[in-house]
Amino acid sequence: MKILVTGSNGQLGTELVNRYFDRSNDELFVGDLPDIDITSELSIASTFASIAPDVVINCAAWTAVDAAEEKESSAFTVNAEGPAILATYCARTGARLVQISTDYVFGGDASEPYREDSQPGPITAYGRTKLAGENFVRELLPDNHLVIRTAWLYSPTGHNFVKTIIKAQRDRETLSVVTDQIGQPTSASDLADQIVTLLDTYSGPGIFHGTNSGVTSWFEFARAIMSEIGEDPERILPTDSSSYVQLAPRPAYSVLGHQGWAAVGMEPMRDWRIALHEAMPEIMLAIE
Ligand SMILES: NC(=O)c1ccc[n+]([C@@H]2O[C@H](COP(=O)([O-])OP(=O)(O)OC[C@H]3O[C@@H](n4cnc5c(N)ncnc54)[C@H](OP(=O)(O)O)[C@@H]3O)[C@@H](O)[C@H]2O)c1
Repeated sequence: MKILVTGSNGQLGTELVNRYFDRSNDELFVGDLPDIDITSELSIASTFASIAPDVVINCAAWTAVDAAEEKESSAFTVNAEGPAILATYCARTGARLVQISTDYVFGGDASEPYREDSQPGPITAYGRTKLAGENFVRELLPDNHLVIRTAWLYSPTGHNFVKTIIKAQRDRETLSVVTDQIGQPTSASDLADQIVTLLDTYSGPGIFHGTNSGVTSWFEFARAIMSEIGEDPERILPTDSSSYVQLAPRPAYSVLGHQGWAAVGMEPMRDWRIALHEAMPEIMLAIE
């Protein structure tokens, strides 16, 4: 199969490229700015004409959550119009589209994990644009889409919370991290494995929640990172969201349920602590 990964230089894109690179049955094509721009119909038309992909995995996104509050139309172009262009070309050619989405499509005020079919209700510009992207993809490709929602992603590539904590603790004796935002730290490596297995085993459409299992706060996550690098976790001090105000409101409870995997004969992704432990050596190597 011909697999096209868009946003291939990002955290998840890089992991997917690594997975498909060596597979003899698949032919991998990679695309990121400036070579492939998902918001340009011209760029996508010529990509489809030259590659004719069987599967497109769209990891390209506007991921700057706070900046999206001030530039929602720019975020909409990347997070909603880009996937719509990809879906249009997939519909014309019979290709499958995997659209990566987010827990931010929900309001984050639940008291139990969001199901795949729970009613979305984004409270941020980023969440609204990502939900619009999901909806375009589902409408334009009713039988040939996969929407994978993820959250709290980290990897050796790019910027993420794990790397931020490791670097920040080098300069400061203590770091204050919020205890009142709950979610699911997710290894991009694990998510890439889950997506590859899903594509190998299931040919239908659907929404899936691609987050590691277990639930924690940013505070506990930071302490776990400190333990992993052999530093004293007590150097992470508790604070709450009222003392760390950001432009985009952060969800208090942003936990995704994993009911969808059983329906396709797959297990949910493993516990976040095991995934973090396994990911740490490569992350440390990537930190200068
Ligand atoms: N990171 C998280 O914690 C998180 C949480 C929930 C959901 N997600 C979703 O997971 C997916 C992957 O996230 P990630 O963390 O891997 O993202 P990332 O590291 O920010 O990578 C996104 C990639 O897309 C590229 N890109 C941006 N605009 C593009 C365009 N118009 N055409 C082609 N490529 C473009 C970016 O290039 P530039 O760097 O040059 O802009 C970047 O290489 C996204 O859909 C994101 O919304 C992420």
